[in-house]
Amino acid sequence: MPQRFAQLSDPHLSSLDAVRPRDLLGKRALGYLSWRHKRRFEHRREVLDALQRDLAGTQFDQMLVTGDLTHIGLPEEFKQAADWLRQLGDPADVALVPGNHDACVAAPWRATFALWQDYMASDGDRDNSAHAAEFPSLRVRGNIAFIGLSTACPKPPLMATGTLGEEQLRRLPALLKRTAEQGLFRVVYLHHCPLPGREKWRKRLTDAPQVQDILEQYGAELVLHGHGHRAHFNELHSRAGTVPVIAVPSASALGLHGRDVAQYNRYEVERNDRGWQLRIDARCYGPDTGEFGDGGSRTLQLDRDRM
Ligand SMILES: [Fe+2]
Ligand SMILES: [Fe+2]
Repeated sequence: MPQRFAQLSDPHLSSLDAVRPRDLLGKRALGYLSWRHKRRFEHRREVLDALQRDLAGTQFDQMLVTGDLTHIGLPEEFKQAADWLRQLGDPADVALVPGNHDACVAAPWRATFALWQDYMASDGDRDNSAHAAEFPSLRVRGNIAFIGLSTACPKPPLMATGTLGEEQLRRLPALLKRTAEQGLFRVVYLHHCPLPGREKWRKRLTDAPQVQDILEQYGAELVLHGHGHRAHFNELHSRAGTVPVIAVPSASALGLHGRDVAQYNRYEVERNDRGWQLRIDARCYGPDTGEFGDGGSRTLQLDRDRM
């Protein structure tokens, strides 16, 4: 029996209507202006509602959300996003990594990320709100290991970069090795693109070369990210075999001014004699219908040595 999971990214779902712009400083003031003049027209709640209708009726082993739920990371936005996460599903079924907009500036943890803690937690670590979620996170469902990386940390104004950091870079190899030895299909998910040179300089993952090295050396079966608000398909060539690296556009975008319209991806994984078969189904928003529909599919064979 195949296992199913899905990924959505960059919903940018919060409203700043109630915010008094004169209370904002620095990077948040710039972010507010961007929302006021651009983002509130592009990122729409009705698109997210349509996405939720499209999800209804399909059982997923896990729903992956790859960051940028907010615009400028205010506590009030974290509350709005926490309400939306609860609509999406139980924390055991929805796994979250944050994006750069969620860590716009340094903010008190209890008023912000603590509200999302259960969705970022590893197996066995939920209901432990005494400490911040640790990354890499790990959730295992059947034959699949979901490995979450956080690239979100405050950066100077106008920068949308991300950094994985020394601690995650140190822990990731052992986690990839252990889950490979367990014969699991390893899904690595993060907000920024882990491939160096694929993203604009001010939007890049600063330690992408190190992340790519680790993925090439220790392998993974699938890498998923967002951040660019564009659909992309790339491949990494690891010692374990080919690794698809897939970017999904924003889940809430109307696609104004030539941007990609909202999309999310569904995945189906099944083990076979040669390794794994992976089916990818894109679900795209139709601005004319107001609903999500078939956006094309492809099936990949990922050859792996038998464990
Ligand atoms: Fe984004
Ligand atoms: Fe982003």
